[in-house]
Formats: sequence, structure tokens, C-alpha cells
Amino acid sequence: MAILVCGGAGYIGSHTVRQLLAAGEQVIIADNLSTGHRAAVNPDVKFYECDIRDKDALKKIFAANEVEAVFHLAAYIEAGESVIKPLKYFNNNVYGMQILLEAMTECGVDKIIFSSSAAVYGEPERIPIDEGDATFPTNPYGETKLIMEKIMRWVSAAHGVRYVSLRYFNASGAIEDGSIGEDHHPETHLIPLILQVPLGKRDHITVFGTDYPTPDGTCIRDYVHVLDLAAAHLCALNYLRSGGASNYFNLGSGSGFSVKQIVDAAEKVTGQKIKTELGTRRAGDPARLIASGDKARKILGWAPRFDDVEKIIATAWNWHRTHPNGYDDC
Ligand code: UFG
Repeated sequence: MAILVCGGAGYIGSHTVRQLLAAGEQVIIADNLSTGHRAAVNPDVKFYECDIRDKDALKKIFAANEVEAVFHLAAYIEAGESVIKPLKYFNNNVYGMQILLEAMTECGVDKIIFSSSAAVYGEPERIPIDEGDATFPTNPYGETKLIMEKIMRWVSAAHGVRYVSLRYFNASGAIEDGSIGEDHHPETHLIPLILQVPLGKRDHITVFGTDYPTPDGTCIRDYVHVLDLAAAHLCALNYLRSGGASNYFNLGSGSGFSVKQIVDAAEKVTGQKIKTELGTRRAGDPARLIASGDKARKILGWAPRFDDVEKIIATAWNWHRTHPNGYDDC
């Protein structure tokens, strides 16, 4: 039986597909290529250019393939954009989840592993953030992820679909051979933006806020390697296969690094000075986001392999320096 990876041509999706294949799983990809890249997908994997809001197309995929479980990584992800265009996010993310679950329940597919986000917590009430902590998203993106989790919960109760929701913290890095990596248009994430400076693609990086209540005044985040996120999907699949009940987990390294620390680490990795300009705060940025990973460790048996931020940045650098124009260089 196959795993259907929705969003398998995206950054985290493509790394997850690689790991599924390495584990001997049969994989099918559905991706509308609105943000994903055809070149991120192995040519020998069955690929459907399909939007998850197209129920007929999904049902055709389920009719043509024996699908054991769906991995859902097909959502819009830009918190800043979601504030300006909330309906775009509610349509693709929330309505997309509804249609996907309708197609799954109508076709008898009863397992789903979902890419959720630390953004469901909003401004955290304590650090490290525990799965039981309050969820008050501060932007529509985080709100959609929370609603998507709630939809799964009710559908699970009514139709027996079991789910695992994986709340990613800051996904970063790339596969070690540098063959796939992060390529967003426009790029908004810290590490790829920093690496554009030594690539000569930008003059400097702007630090968004230097007056946060943190040791150096810049925001602290929990950077977790994309291969560790991918590995967590396999742990979640095995958990559901062995009868595990629906559940949700933080996926973070448990360590926090400030924007300044990330710039310093990138200078060490690239061997080049990275010019910074000190800017104002970006709206909606919490000062500190660090995951408690205890639950995923205990229940899923997941432990991040990359525990050193320089090693994470080194894998990102390996991708970006060999593909300065992302997938256009493939
Ligand atoms: N930052 C800068 N300058 C930049 C870009 C980012 O200082 O040019 C700072 C941000 O203010 C933030 C940190 O770098 O403090 C990380 O920012 P990113 O945009 O890379 O990531 P976010 O923490 O904003 O968000 C990411 C994902 C979300 C997810 C969240 C969960 O993009 O989808 O992590 O922690 F919800």
C-alpha cells in the first residue's frame, strides 16, 4: 500500500518523500505546484499535479492506488502574508483540509499525518512550550493550522480516521547531499535570507527587532532540521500502524538560538562576514519559541539527529551555494 504525500514537491514534503523511499515505502505525490517544485520530486515517483481542493481528482487518486495513509503538507505557510490575505489561507488550508478529509472518508482511507505549526500557540505562556499549553494564534496562518487540527479531531471521532498532528518549530537545513533544499518565492525565512549575503544575492540581512526581552535583544527560535522533521513523519506512521490513538506533538530541538547567534553561526559556516542592519520588530513575532520535545520522544520515539545549529546551517549552505537560484539551477 502507498503513502500519498500531499505537498510532496515542497520543502519539507520533498525531504519526507526521500526518507519514505529510503525506508522502502511506496510513495505517491499530489502537489498543485503553486509553491512546490517539480524538480524536487524524484522522476520515478508517481506524481499527480492536483489541488487538494479538487475532490474528484483526489478520489481518482484513491481509486487508482491503494493508499494506506495521507501525509498532508499542502498548505500555505507565510504568517505575514496571511495577515494581509486571510481568506487565501482559510480557503487553501481550512477548506483544503475539509475536502481532503471528505475524499479520504468517502474512499476509506483512515490515517493522516498533518504538518501543523508552532504558530498554533501564538505568544507562548511559558518556555519550553508543552503540547498542553494554551493555543492563541496571533496570525491567520496559525489559526488555520489550529482549525485544521480541530477538524481532524471531530472527523476522527465521527468517522474513525486517526491522525497525528506534528507541530513544527523552525524547519531548516537541507538533505546532506545538497540535491534538494529550501526555495521559496519570495523567501522570508531567516537562514536562507542570511545565506543570500555570502552568495552575493543581497547586501545585508535586517535583524527584525533588537529590543526583545532576550539576552542579546533579538528573537529566539527553535531550529529543527528538515530531515529530523521528515523522520518524525515515519515515526508517526509507525505509531498509527501499531494502533496509536490520534495525537499531536511538538517537533523542535528543544534549544533556542537568537537571530544574532544564527548570523554568527552562518559566518562560521560560510567563512564570510555577513553584514547586518538593525531594524524594527516584525509584527506578530513572539520573543521566544522553544519546544518541549518530551512528548514526541516518549510516545513516538523521535529524537532529532541534528542538535548543532552550525551543522544545520552547513547543510543549508551546501544546498544554497550549489543552487544559488534554487530549483532553477537543477
Ligand atoms: N528574521 C529577521 N530578519 C529576516 C527574517 C527573519 O530578523 O529577514 C527573524 C524573525 O523576526 C524571527 C526569526 O528571524 O525572529 C525567524 O524568522 P523566520 O521568518 O525564519 O521564521 P518564523 O519564526 O517567523 O516562522 C517559522 C515558520 C512558520 C512557523 C514558525 C514556527 O515560517 O511557518 O516558524 O516557529 F509557524
